[in-house]
Amino acid sequence: MTLSPDTPNRQWILNRRPQGDVRPDDFDLVVGTLPELTDGDVLVRTLFFGYDASQRIWLTDDGGYMDPIMPGEPMRCGGIGQVVASQNPAYQPGQIVEGFMAWQDYAVMRADGPMPLRHLPDAPYPLSWNLGVFGVGGLTAYFGVTDGLKVKAGDTVVISAATGATGSLACQIAKLLGARVIGIAGGPDKCRWIVEHAGCDAAIDYQNEDVGARLAELVPGGVDAYFDNVGGDMLDTLFLHMAPKGRILICGAMSQGYTDVKVQGPTNYMRICTHQLTVQGILLFFYADEIPAAAMQLGQWVQEGRIHVEENRHEGFEKAPELLPTMFTGKAPGKLVLHVADPA
Ligand SMILES: NC(=O)c1ccc[n+]([C@@H]2O[C@H](COP(=O)([O-])OP(=O)(O)OC[C@H]3O[C@@H](n4cnc5c(N)ncnc54)[C@H](OP(=O)(O)O)[C@@H]3O)[C@@H](O)[C@H]2O)c1
Repeated sequence: MTLSPDTPNRQWILNRRPQGDVRPDDFDLVVGTLPELTDGDVLVRTLFFGYDASQRIWLTDDGGYMDPIMPGEPMRCGGIGQVVASQNPAYQPGQIVEGFMAWQDYAVMRADGPMPLRHLPDAPYPLSWNLGVFGVGGLTAYFGVTDGLKVKAGDTVVISAATGATGSLACQIAKLLGARVIGIAGGPDKCRWIVEHAGCDAAIDYQNEDVGARLAELVPGGVDAYFDNVGGDMLDTLFLHMAPKGRILICGAMSQGYTDVKVQGPTNYMRICTHQLTVQGILLFFYADEIPAAAMQLGQWVQEGRIHVEENRHEGFEKAPELLPTMFTGKAPGKLVLHVADPA
């Protein structure tokens, strides 16, 4: 591929900080030129954009656990790309990599930072699965279930946002480890899906059922482990249904919309005291060194047909902004990815 400083580089730029729900018109399409590389930089042509709820946090003034995206900057995302130029000897043109990218045709990447730029292997599965089952969702599910919650055979595990990229894999991994798994999802179709495809033994429809009443019915002895992707009232309800010495993993807070880093905290937290609960957080960054081994284990389960991979795939660079709000409005199950180009 021949590149010159005049090669057009389409970018979706944040034009203003969203107030409340993020909207497609918070972004403008501009055509820039290729950036100059300095020592250590890697220039990547983007192939896939992944969607994560935390992108909404990066759009707040605070930014959460990463620097906030400033108006005038392209929108950050997890992505897959192909190296087209490099000033880092560890990355050569033609190689396929995964890491933090942005909604643009060409992105300058660094190999350092909290999540190093990852070389992707040639593999007999779709490239985009490196954003889903072998990406943030699958890996967080793996570490959350195995290390955070230490799920073991015989546990009763509850998982919220169970159709999501993370939740759907957390359900399957907990089931593989011998747990009884109860998923929580919105609506009868999604509840059916988590039983048929995500390994759940039972489902709770949080939009049409009383979650507390259903937990009392399904788990009268209390929940051993809760993988929390939702926060808010649902977390509060779960506190009342945990078994003594139960474990809670705080992974996300989808119910809070992520429009602000300040979220509704639980009022039933004294259950931590009275029931000797353990509440732990997870951030994939902390497991960076263990990712290759985890990806290998997930790969083996996928190859053996023991994990169902669901992808919610869309096509076309121009769609980037319109897909982001769907993270909070009940998108289809699985990992949301946008295919923007093919490898050269
Ligand atoms: N800590 C980490 O390192 C880490 C890593 C990955 C993800 N996360 C977090 O994990 C959570 C799930 O991420 P994901 O990638 O799996 O997202 P996802 O694929 O978009 O799934 C999110 C699901 O959340 C559900 N949801 C949305 N609003 C809800 C509400 N008000 N109440 C209950 N459920 C709601 C939706 O399902 P329904 O249609 O059933 O409502 C949606 O499918 C997010 O909060 C994300 O930030 C954290």
